[in-house]
Amino acid sequence: MIKLLTVIGARPQIIKAAALSRAVELVYSAAITEKIVHTGQHYDDNMSKVFFAEMNIPKPDYNLKVGSGSHGKQTAAMIKGLEEVIMKESPDAIVVYGDTNSTLAAAIAGSKLHVPIMHVEAGLRSFNKSMPEEINRIICDHVSTLLFTPTEAGYFNLISEGFKEGNDGPYTVDNPKIHHCGDVMYDNIRHFLEQATGSCQLFEEFDIRKGEYLLATIHRDNNTDDPKRLTSIFTGLNRISQEMDVQIVLPLHPRTSKLIKKNLDPEIYKQIKANEKIIMMPAVSYLDMLALEESSVMIVTDSGGVQKEAYLLKKPCITLRAQTEWVELVDNGNAVLTDSDENRIVEAYTTLLNKTNYSYPDIFGDGKAAIFICKEIVSTLSADKQ
Ligand code: UD1
Ligand code: UDP
Repeated sequence: MIKLLTVIGARPQIIKAAALSRAVELVYSAAITEKIVHTGQHYDDNMSKVFFAEMNIPKPDYNLKVGSGSHGKQTAAMIKGLEEVIMKESPDAIVVYGDTNSTLAAAIAGSKLHVPIMHVEAGLRSFNKSMPEEINRIICDHVSTLLFTPTEAGYFNLISEGFKEGNDGPYTVDNPKIHHCGDVMYDNIRHFLEQATGSCQLFEEFDIRKGEYLLATIHRDNNTDDPKRLTSIFTGLNRISQEMDVQIVLPLHPRTSKLIKKNLDPEIYKQIKANEKIIMMPAVSYLDMLALEESSVMIVTDSGGVQKEAYLLKKPCITLRAQTEWVELVDNGNAVLTDSDENRIVEAYTTLLNKTNYSYPDIFGDGKAAIFICKEIVSTLSADKQ
């Protein structure tokens, strides 16, 4: 039996981990036993607890309860807590997701204790090291033993950083194995979409007109923490809603809820609050989010996960960033990068709305990434044990 320690902490990781836990439970329960550590990076019920309940994720065996803090303070507390858990549990491998401080902490704590790191969502690069996530993902990739890329671009990024293709085992941190396997978030969409669209009450609750609204999420630190950028984004959204008479639905990340009060230009804040077409609400559950995405006409976001979900649900996407790790979406014309520029946001809305020749090649695999990941973990670790 292989013992995996899964480390999660932030909302998107809890969501991604659901796919692997489901594959373990349904297909690999005889080969894999999973222990789950929640670092406590996200802790509000609507940023954490809600996903465990609705996505049927096993309750974490540990919660380190690190909470919020500066990068150093938060990451250090996670490393300390994770080191203790890893020493106690002696797992065969540690599974980490994406690029948050929880990912980084697990990669550092685990690799220094010589436990192989399995990185799901490896290889992505924005080529912008002012993003904390870019630092986290580069470090994590370079101490990992198995690396699972969600896109071909991710796979080729790893090759250009010196990772080898087609190398033979045994696989170790010094001889890592890279796999392109598609995205576990696609697995989740396939599994949950029907249930999500059947259960969402938000349309009645907020009087949202299905099929006509723009869905927006904003949480990236460089957008929320900079008053100029945040004001420019909200001015763009306000203009779209007024000039084009369209509702904008905005489930707010707690970071954004706090910072719009502090960082938005007071006049824009007043206008947004008075604009009935801008519908703000606290962050919603995964099923509600899928339902909101599915019935939207377009998505505006700086989220990594939401950019992908837009594509997988065939919605055009205005990406509130200067660059993206999901380059295929821009290259294929499904998404437009506007950074935080008010005018570019408004123009992108019109451009994407009027565009007719959308196509959706299989960028994110076949929706069976979690099964592939389990299979490779089992075959690699079983070979080690022999
Ligand atoms: C983190 C990740 C980011 C990811 C995002 C997903 C890092 C460096 N960043 O950003 O890559 O895209 O999660 O959502 O790891 N807060 C609450 N309640 C919560 C959680 C957060 O109020 O349950 C507030 C706190 O004021 C906190 C702020 O949000 O200071 C930011 O939280 P934090 O986890 O540090 O970063 P995120 O912006 O969520
Ligand atoms: N999400 C959610 N509720 C919300 C906003 C987003 O469940 O109110 C989901 C979304 O569907 C996606 C994931 O959270 O699956 C993306 O996480 P987030 O935007 O927090 O982080 P990122 O992907 O940018 O790291």
